[in-house]
Amino acid sequence: MKKVLVVGGAGYVGCVLVEELLAKGYSVRVFDRLFFGRDHAGEFLDRVELVVEDMRDFNESHVEDCGAVINIGGLSNDPTAEFNPKANEELNTHASIKVAEVAKKAGVPRLIFASTCSIYDRGVGEEVRDLLLDEDSEVDPKAAYATSKLAAEQAILAMADDDFVPVSFRKGTIFGFSARMRYDLVVNAFVKDALMRGKLSVHYGGAMWRPLIDVKDVARAYVMALDSDADLIRGQIFNLSAGNFRISELALRVQRALQDLGVQAELDVDFSYRLVRSYRVSGDKILKTLGFQPRVTVEESVAHMVEQIERHGFTDFSHPRYYNIEWMKLLESAVETVSTHGYVLSKPEWGDRGLEGERARLLAERARQGS
Ligand SMILES: NC(=O)c1ccc[n+]([C@@H]2O[C@H](COP(=O)([O-])OP(=O)(O)OC[C@H]3O[C@@H](n4cnc5c(N)ncnc54)[C@H](O)[C@@H]3O)[C@@H](O)[C@H]2O)c1
Repeated sequence: MKKVLVVGGAGYVGCVLVEELLAKGYSVRVFDRLFFGRDHAGEFLDRVELVVEDMRDFNESHVEDCGAVINIGGLSNDPTAEFNPKANEELNTHASIKVAEVAKKAGVPRLIFASTCSIYDRGVGEEVRDLLLDEDSEVDPKAAYATSKLAAEQAILAMADDDFVPVSFRKGTIFGFSARMRYDLVVNAFVKDALMRGKLSVHYGGAMWRPLIDVKDVARAYVMALDSDADLIRGQIFNLSAGNFRISELALRVQRALQDLGVQAELDVDFSYRLVRSYRVSGDKILKTLGFQPRVTVEESVAHMVEQIERHGFTDFSHPRYYNIEWMKLLESAVETVSTHGYVLSKPEWGDRGLEGERARLLAERARQGS
């Protein structure tokens, strides 16, 4: 079977997707800067080829022998895009277009780009425009993240021809357990809040709509698109959503699912309002075209998540690595320290002195001074 290159394959979606690809018999090359470290990807690292590079430096050697590229790399939410709009545009638009151009030029027949349903955002309070949106709906995103994804999507899909089949998945907000866990996604955040402090925090009365889908279903959709008839998907956009939920309903469903597991949590609702993301989308096109139907319910996903969080010990809930924006900020500040000193704790020229050796050296020094 052909090799699949997964750009961003060590991320939240990537860790689940790579396992799914391996289980289906694909060989996999993961291309990732490993922003979130390599520990979480440890379970599959010995079964994939790993390329630790920046997608801005993408070139033909990276797609050698590959039958398909899945690009899920770059910045993955609004806060990180707004934290560094320049990097966001470089990664989510320009580098993503470059990945597609390189793949096409090298003769890779298929590429799936990770877009987002936040492209459909129309904001809470705009009820007259509160419609179920599909892939043909007019979109006019304002936020940096969605704008960067739309620009890439348009350029990549325009590359479609007889020999190159680009596809864009506009994914709803994803939930579920991944070995590279994120607690900054709404369902995962509810579970984390419940386990950490017995409360689910619901903002703005929970009035916002979100399309949602479990991460295992997302991985299945990718594999389906790799296997499907090229003529069905060439240059197409597909929404990935298992359904639309108001955040308030979602909180109640998570609360009940947790209750069934013996985890009690109160709802902590604030009723202040401001313009926040809200949109409802249809997942019908991929069902009608490929027969793809999401399988995992919110309740099943919550039960699996609680069990896996415990098993993997991801109970250090405040650790910044679970929150993309916290982690990016931390890495940026670490760069400052490193560029000043060249190190954080381990001083390079002290590197080969073991603790024992150092203690002996200090004792000898003291003895000399005492004599
Ligand atoms: N998680 C969601 O709810 C969701 C919803 C819609 C769309 N998406 C999109 O799906 C994709 C995957 O999302 P995720 O949740 O797995 O995000 P993630 O942040 O967990 O993973 C992104 C991966 O990309 C890698 N990466 C970042 N910059 C890179 C660079 N310059 N070079 C190489 N690798 C780089 C990171 O190291 C990370 O492993 C993203 O494109 C995101 O925008 C995600």
